[in-house]
Amino acid sequence: MPMWQQSKILHQGAEAIVISGYWMGVKAVLKMRNPRSYRHPDLDRRLTRQRLSVEVRVLDKLHSSELSCPSLLDVDLDKGWLLLSHIEGETLYDSLLSGKSGFEEIKKLGKLIREMHNLGVSHGDLTTHNIMIDDCKSLSLIDFGLSKIAPEVEHLGLDLQVLNECLNASHHDFEGAIDVLIDGYLSSSDIFSPSGKEVIERFNSIRRRVRYHA
Ligand SMILES: Nc1ncnc2c1ncn2[C@@H]1O[C@H](COP(=O)(O)OP(=O)(O)OP(=O)(O)O)[C@@H](O)[C@H]1O
Ligand SMILES: [Mg+2]
Repeated sequence: MPMWQQSKILHQGAEAIVISGYWMGVKAVLKMRNPRSYRHPDLDRRLTRQRLSVEVRVLDKLHSSELSCPSLLDVDLDKGWLLLSHIEGETLYDSLLSGKSGFEEIKKLGKLIREMHNLGVSHGDLTTHNIMIDDCKSLSLIDFGLSKIAPEVEHLGLDLQVLNECLNASHHDFEGAIDVLIDGYLSSSDIFSPSGKEVIERFNSIRRRVRYHA
């Protein structure tokens, strides 16, 4: 790719490789989908295109509404990559583990999630690995390959359940974190229907369902 100067690999995951570098002199991140050899190449290409194009549409929507997330610099759906602006800081996962972040940030996160939901977007993979926090304690959301535009209340409730499970599994030092998160979630005013209250009701019924089946 012209105008791209690679510096280091940030993350080599199951689905994607993320590399930091410079694009026309601007600090940027290249996210490239890995081909999955166990899938038929046609199916694999289709899935890659689908995930990337969702991510592109969601980033565009969130960015134009000034929600904190990377901006899209360039994309090639056929080759399977996105070029994003670089977000400073670390993942909320690391920041909570080191104790740099705590309940205050969790409450702010709840508010940010409601702001995203208010724009008619569900995230689809809302773990603390997909939330960045910088030195000024400013939060940003990343990784929108499983997002939905115009989601149903179930998808919004599931965002909270995925995060709830992540908090329980990885951040159990912060007891009651989910209640603080809900507090933050409900502190943001309603623009999008379903309302915050309706989403929390759905989240509670998802929680009951999961507990019952566990
Ligand atoms: N715009 C960005 N700025 C800074 N760091 C980023 C950015 N995008 C991604 N990262 C870093 O790369 C990691 C992986 O990115 P991302 O979550 O988008 O990929 P992924 O699809 O989750 O990969 P996998 O599915 O294999 O887990 C993030 O957790 C973060 O540490
Ligand atoms: Mg991720």
